[in-house]
Amino acid sequence: MPRTRDHLPWTDPQLRRDPYPFYAHAQTHAPVSRDEDGTVVLTKYADLMHYGRLPSVLIAPEWDKAGAWSVLSDMALGHDEPDHTRLKRLTSNWFTPKRVRQWVAITASVTDEILDRIGADGLIDGSSLAVEATHRTICRVLQVTEDGFDDVRHYMRMAMPVLSAAAGPEDFEACEQAHVYLQGRVRELLEHARENPGDGLIHELVETEQRGEITAAETLATALFFYTVGHMDASYLISSGLQLFAEQPAVFDAFRTNPDVRQNIVSELVRYDAPEPVVTRATSEDLDIGGFEVPAGSTLRLMLGAANRDPDVYDDPQKFDYTRPPAQSRSLTFSLGSHSCQGRLLAEAEIKTVWERIALRYSQIKVASAPEMMLTDASRHFITQPLRFT
Ligand code: HEM
Repeated sequence: MPRTRDHLPWTDPQLRRDPYPFYAHAQTHAPVSRDEDGTVVLTKYADLMHYGRLPSVLIAPEWDKAGAWSVLSDMALGHDEPDHTRLKRLTSNWFTPKRVRQWVAITASVTDEILDRIGADGLIDGSSLAVEATHRTICRVLQVTEDGFDDVRHYMRMAMPVLSAAAGPEDFEACEQAHVYLQGRVRELLEHARENPGDGLIHELVETEQRGEITAAETLATALFFYTVGHMDASYLISSGLQLFAEQPAVFDAFRTNPDVRQNIVSELVRYDAPEPVVTRATSEDLDIGGFEVPAGSTLRLMLGAANRDPDVYDDPQKFDYTRPPAQSRSLTFSLGSHSCQGRLLAEAEIKTVWERIALRYSQIKVASAPEMMLTDASRHFITQPLRFT
């Protein structure tokens, strides 16, 4: 089997900045490859859809390797069937289309509040706007205090690099430290909810636990996931879109003036710039993948970002083209199979809503100076994003 490091050098700053030329190369020369630790890396859309959905391909064993994130083995995302469905049902009612309409009314009002603070120079940090609008929305869903977005953002940046294929001891250490804060914070929020009944998602989790239907560990993991991750990828895509609108003003004009194309622009950006371009799985039986033997107990890295630009699926895949036919605008950014993202509707609606509120007041977005970013092969974050709205 080809060696991953010859095609996907995970720590190369160029790959971290723009992995897509590397993915394209790997799809042609090494669609399936083996990393130094034995992990098998898959890049083709059809392979992800096939192997990623086999009942013998599991998620649970992978969380044991994720440092302090292994706490999530107690929520839906950390379980295989039957517990996965049991835990996923706990929160599914909170993200129905009707509820999402209610939640994005919050996103709109928080965004307006932030835009009201912009001075006459039109300067704004787009990434702070995106984080504040999405974090405060998920806080209202949970019904917890909304003031912690700067801390959550800071600690999430420390906690995420551990998911990289090239994570080192310093990443595991930083993740541990971040979780002292993040888990401590969520324990406080849960304690407060136990003593002060309410009708948020956190109260429902606490009540379900009090009825003995879920464990304290399941309550903590589920609340932690929504509190910490609920803003992260949606805010990345909000910022990524603002950057695109600055670089391609015609796309912002189309978004502003034609409501019919807004969802297409959101979907195309979701395909084009996956915030977490990879998910991992473990095999529980011997498999033949692309003619290579993969023994039971192997880790698979399913490269969602690569699949999203597979030329066997998408015409002119490297082009941002919001006029693609609907079949071509579907992507794997929200994962595949039973673990596909429960927050997809909310995330897409938040992205559209923040851009709409901006478009109501401004007709041009300019880059004031280059954004600062924190990029690994597994997650993408804006640190600062100086923009000027006019
Ligand atoms: C653009 C924004 C988002 C992206 C790109 C995204 C992406 C993902 C991905 C890739 C997974 C699956 C991971 C895997 O298969 O191993 C996932 C799972 C999940 N996401 Fe999201 N997510 C986003 C926003 C959200 C939001 C806003 C929420 C909640 C409000 C959310 C809730 C969930 C949940 C609960 C799961 C676990 C589903 C399961 O295991 O069955 N996500 N998401």
